[in-house]
Amino acid sequence: MDVGTISRTAELYGRVRDVILPMEWPAYASDIDAILRLKRERNAVILAHNYQTPEIFHCVADIVGDSLALAREAMRVDASVIVLAGVHFMAETAKLLNPSKTVLTPDLAAGCSLADSITPEDVARLRQRYPGVPVVTYVNTSAAVKAASDICCTSGNAKQVVESLGVERVIMIPDEYLAKNVAAETDVEIITWAGHCEVHAQFTPEDIREVRDAYPGVVVLTHPECPPDVVAEADFSGSTAAMSAYVDANKPPRVVLVTECSMSDNIAAANPDIAFLRPCNLCPHMKRITLPKIRAALETMREPITIDPAIAEKARRAVERMLAVK
Ligand code: 13P
Ligand code: SF4
Repeated sequence: MDVGTISRTAELYGRVRDVILPMEWPAYASDIDAILRLKRERNAVILAHNYQTPEIFHCVADIVGDSLALAREAMRVDASVIVLAGVHFMAETAKLLNPSKTVLTPDLAAGCSLADSITPEDVARLRQRYPGVPVVTYVNTSAAVKAASDICCTSGNAKQVVESLGVERVIMIPDEYLAKNVAAETDVEIITWAGHCEVHAQFTPEDIREVRDAYPGVVVLTHPECPPDVVAEADFSGSTAAMSAYVDANKPPRVVLVTECSMSDNIAAANPDIAFLRPCNLCPHMKRITLPKIRAALETMREPITIDPAIAEKARRAVERMLAVK
């Protein structure tokens, strides 16, 4: 690694030194240096989800957050190019909300088990079965499924979206557990679909009880994509941004985030005094995004996200309707 790269990236290493060993840094530094240069040359910004690895999250991202924050921020981006360091549905949402920009995904195969669990034809069948019942669709879906929906939601606003409709019954797709977790907090009846997040569905109530037995006093935070009996064991449940905000506000001495494990690394890097227990469930889709792929995306301007205009118009309506809910 040349001397210029070392000195240009020294301040960035300071941000991740608690989670990346000095011997690992040279493997990251030259890609980081190149990505920072390419962002300037391409007039690009990088939006990164909370599950991205620390060298992406802390060292090259311009904006980080949960799905809701990334959607809101994507809409406001002024730069010509958005690189979405996250999974495909997040890049599609950015393109829907800021269609004149070039939105690049570093890996077209970065999918999501929830997005794969439902098709627009499934939504049409649900509408036939429950005529007149509005369809609330989690953003973890394809643009085509969003286009078949009335309104979208994220884990950060699902309850508010459901209640904003002023109806007694909604269909909420595709995450069965998110839907059941919301149902536990509202009087609105929720018809569910049997989609699951392959990461969060793995956690069990026994996992939490074991952690509590082994580490008395540990604070347990869960993501609402976890099964309801897991959420019931937690001290707090919320979106990735809500979990992060909880840690910032409460500074628990020891905490376990029952979610994808890069999230703990990212918060730990900024909170060296907090002990994080790290059940290491990795999302294989999120982990497809790497520094070399982000660098290649900016060098080659691939892969650009494209959405059929007829689908985009309807899908945008469902996402914008969500964003209008306070
Ligand atoms: P958040 O909206 O909470 O960031 O969740 C997105 C996601 O894919 C969680 O698995
Ligand atoms: Fe999808 Fe689960 Fe991965 Fe989030 S963690 S992108 S819901 S598979």
